[in-house]
Amino acid sequence: MLGGKKILLGITGGIAAYKITFLVRLFIKAGAEVRVIMTPSAGDFVSPLTLATLSKNKVLIDFVNKEEHSVDWNNHVDIGLWADLMLIAPATANTLSKMAGGTCDNLLLAAYLSAKCPVFFAPAMDLDMYRHPSTRNTFETLQSFGNIMIPAGSGELASGLHGEGRMAEPEDILDFITNYLQKGQPLTGKKVLITAGPTYEAIDPVRFVGNHSTGRMGFELAKTAADLGAEVILISGPTHLQLDHSGITRISVVSAEEMYQAALEHYNLVDVAIGAAAVADFRPKTTSDKKIKKNGGGLNIEMVPNPDILQALGGQKTNQYLVGFALETNDELANAKAKIAKKNLDAIVLNSLRDAGAGFGGDTNKITYIDKNFNQKAFELKTKAEVALDIWNEILNGLHA
Ligand code: CTP
Repeated sequence: MLGGKKILLGITGGIAAYKITFLVRLFIKAGAEVRVIMTPSAGDFVSPLTLATLSKNKVLIDFVNKEEHSVDWNNHVDIGLWADLMLIAPATANTLSKMAGGTCDNLLLAAYLSAKCPVFFAPAMDLDMYRHPSTRNTFETLQSFGNIMIPAGSGELASGLHGEGRMAEPEDILDFITNYLQKGQPLTGKKVLITAGPTYEAIDPVRFVGNHSTGRMGFELAKTAADLGAEVILISGPTHLQLDHSGITRISVVSAEEMYQAALEHYNLVDVAIGAAAVADFRPKTTSDKKIKKNGGGLNIEMVPNPDILQALGGQKTNQYLVGFALETNDELANAKAKIAKKNLDAIVLNSLRDAGAGFGGDTNKITYIDKNFNQKAFELKTKAEVALDIWNEILNGLHA
């Protein structure tokens, strides 16, 4: 799996750095090309010369190499883009928290911010530091960026204490990365269509009927699918969210009718389609081309139904795996199951507005995944990034069933 892979190995200042020499040998033996980048304090724990010899490459530490007759600049962008995968091991609490916060005060951090490849990190720290809520938050933040944590093991620590925080052993890190590369992209070769965000239905040139959807859940689903190897078409209503991922083509629409046309246009080509958009069910019967003036009285707007995009996709289904969302306030399970039948879905993701932290807006969601045979799985309240991964794991189970 690692043959020919370009591995950027970031080493930070922890005692476990001495073990990295063995890991470099394992990577090289597996056929990988390794470049080592160290934080300034990592050199207190392991010699750059040892790592340069083992990796067969110059070790990078500073932005600028000041030698007697030359000044040579280490371009962090080139280094970050060079890598097929980046591993930070040992990853200290200090470097991890800087990575989570976007701090960029050394070459390793600058290369991390520039890297577009999968980034793994293997924490190494004392048990109380490992358990500390701020460290836990850091792990969560990094994972929400798509970085992959190689959990620390338990055992005797350099401090003499016994517990969690010991960096995974070099052989375990190698196995973890190899397994990830083997299984990590199960959607390779698959095309996915996702609708996301609200739709705006124009009343006149300045006013519209809309809803509170931010598009966040759909965007997380798109990002996760692309990280898992899929080619994603994301059809999004108006949202401030940005997404820059080489696996995602974004189509921006405003109204339900535009979303409907875009979805139908691409549906035939995809393997999986997910309706995560909060489509307005109704639109004004007519749209005034001039701003409607107030005249002292009220305003009646006649509304007509919008097409149900998901139902239309269900009606045209050939071999697509089709997943919908149901946002319910009461009789949740019965309503969600009825939607599976009505819209010819393979599964539905149920949100109940009765659950705190679920639904529109926030960073979290609480879902129940129900497949067309009414097998159901209720998940805890999680971040939307974690929920996206849970949903994709369920879809993958469904695709392989
Ligand atoms: N949906 C859609 N087009 C619409 C309305 C809904 O594609 N015009 C999709 C949503 O993206 C979601 C699912 O249908 O995946 C469920 O939407 P929801 O509003 O919860 O259900 P409705 O079918 O509209 O039924 P109701 O509003 O009566 O609950």
